[in-house]
Amino acid sequence: MNETYSEEQLQNLPFMNNNLELEKRVEDLLSRLTLEEKFKLSTGRLMWHTKPIKRLGIKPFTMYDGPHGVRPDSMGEIKSTYFPSAICRAATWDSKLSYEFGKAVAEEVREAGAHMLLAPGINIQRTPMNGRTFEYQTEDPYLNKVLAVATVKGIQSQKIAACVKHYICNNQETNRFKVSSEVSERALQEIYLPAFKATVQEADAWSFMTCYNKVNGIYGSENHNLLRERLMDKWGFRGFTVSDWNATAYTNTEKCVKAGLSLEMPTAKKYNKRNMTKAFNEGKFTEDDINENIRRLLRVMFLVGLFDDEKTLPKGSINTFEHQTLARKIAEEGIVLLKNDEDLLPLNIDEIQKLAVIGPNVNLRIGEGDILSGGGSSINYPPYEITPLEGLRQKCKGKLEIIDKPSEADRTIIFAGLNHDHGMDAEGEDKNIFGLPLEQVKLIKETIQENPYTIVVLINGSPIDMDDWIDRVPSVIETWYGGMEAGKAIANVLFGDVNPSGKLTITFPRKLSDSPAHTSKRTYPGNDKVFYDEGIFVGYRHFDTKNIEPLFPFGHGLSYTTFTYENLTIDQEKIRGDDVLKVSVDITNTGKKNGKEVVQLYIQDVQSSIERPLKELKGFKKIYLNSGQMKTIMFELNKDDLSFYNPIENSWVVEKGAFKILIGSSSRDIQLEGEVEYLE
Ligand code: BGC
Repeated sequence: MNETYSEEQLQNLPFMNNNLELEKRVEDLLSRLTLEEKFKLSTGRLMWHTKPIKRLGIKPFTMYDGPHGVRPDSMGEIKSTYFPSAICRAATWDSKLSYEFGKAVAEEVREAGAHMLLAPGINIQRTPMNGRTFEYQTEDPYLNKVLAVATVKGIQSQKIAACVKHYICNNQETNRFKVSSEVSERALQEIYLPAFKATVQEADAWSFMTCYNKVNGIYGSENHNLLRERLMDKWGFRGFTVSDWNATAYTNTEKCVKAGLSLEMPTAKKYNKRNMTKAFNEGKFTEDDINENIRRLLRVMFLVGLFDDEKTLPKGSINTFEHQTLARKIAEEGIVLLKNDEDLLPLNIDEIQKLAVIGPNVNLRIGEGDILSGGGSSINYPPYEITPLEGLRQKCKGKLEIIDKPSEADRTIIFAGLNHDHGMDAEGEDKNIFGLPLEQVKLIKETIQENPYTIVVLINGSPIDMDDWIDRVPSVIETWYGGMEAGKAIANVLFGDVNPSGKLTITFPRKLSDSPAHTSKRTYPGNDKVFYDEGIFVGYRHFDTKNIEPLFPFGHGLSYTTFTYENLTIDQEKIRGDDVLKVSVDITNTGKKNGKEVVQLYIQDVQSSIERPLKELKGFKKIYLNSGQMKTIMFELNKDDLSFYNPIENSWVVEKGAFKILIGSSSRDIQLEGEVEYLE
């Protein structure tokens, strides 16, 4: 213990030998650390790093935000690829794109000199009002899980750690440092935990970030049940946990240590030397407790290659053409065509002479904000950013004239929506309006009178109220925050170079009070506590079961072509035990354009001993079909897909009886229906 080594001796220590088994390297290094060094390793420094232990050649382990690209520092001196926001990536319903995104961003993390990306953010989108809805993927646990697993696998394919955040029930920004999310075990099991669990069990996530809030009265960073019992003991997590930045503020040192919090960020507070030494000397935790936490951190340090020759690690790259192209592809595939009366879209470049382009978001440039005003920690600073207007200018150059007077134009495009200012789609506080700012509503209404051929292009990251104007506007597209290539992607969709194929991953309610979290003040925003009274009835589970018509349902998104659904085949009428059911369906592109469709499979438990949602997503496939082409697609279902969490028995159960299998192009556009019986 506490020996000093020459450089040569250090190189010959067992933990430096990368031919040695991982766990042996970890144990060897752990055994050489003094208690004080272990305390030192438990806290961060300079915002993004762990402290080095020079004596043993332990370099700082560096972690950077965030979910839409790597941001190597706070002020943007170092540029990186700005990818579309997570809600846009999710709206592609393409797990391969999530994998590719993860891989690309990890290459940028490596090149930026870090070892971990503080992403993906996979909190369930419980309310449209959460300031961070744009940073998260969806309201649905199954879709959330599939996309989260793919993203983590992509990131870690480059030996960069993913940091899955914010564990858990951090579903609002209001009072985020103090509020307690009061949530039932059933809702945790069916809605909030599945994606987190899957990133451990299916993607071997190397790190989890704890939440700011309390869960059922206990802060995430000191929550023994959530960390030690579920994440580590039950799920088999081998990585380490890190507090959200300053999330330990109101916690207690020994409780965090014993719960399994390995690393306190960004600086030493509860884990400072004085607190740690005192708690240790008073016997409030043991060296075994701290060893367990540090062992996990060291394990990930080895996994990312912190002790290995850099030449042996995957190569990093940043701001490459490939990454920028991928950013555009995700933006294109995530754009959702919400409405398209009389096929106003796509625009025909040869038939239009004058195109009016107006609206507050016409020149929106996200990467010009700063962390405090630009949406928060997920902000990125790209080397360039194509605004909507620039995208259209590039597309239309020499072909048509872009003007700003709708009355003189053949067609008008209004770029409306939100931005990352406080009170909009931004971290730190929730949205302060559900609709568009009033001047935008006015603009839309006036414009449509001047020019009936008006298209509204929305740029925002969460559902908004459109009741006031939606019926007057023939075409509306939701483009989210589409990253640095957004302008090009939008132009490609408007002019039909890309056929839209994105689908909503969150229900757009007609009015906020229709939304399950908004039935009373206690359900949102709460005070000291926020009560998840809706239980498992989150998103479309609520709208469908309670028969409330949404503005646009979960899974909705139109195309410039049409698809027919035929020949639903279910290979068995009855299944039991672990039987696997095969479901197939023929999809044909019956329109004139090539395009992609997201085919969705929902199940419905026809009769159940406790209330279940009318529909639950259990499968989806995104397929490409040329005009006229047909493809048969297959789904597999097993008893897990039919089961629910029974709070009386405290376990997942599947009950015998009939289950409907519903295949559709959205949660409210079910095209085919079949049935299977589960025999115990
Ligand atoms: C956010 C995290 C982020 C961290 C570091 C926190 O405020 O909640 O998502 O990774 O800051 O910037």
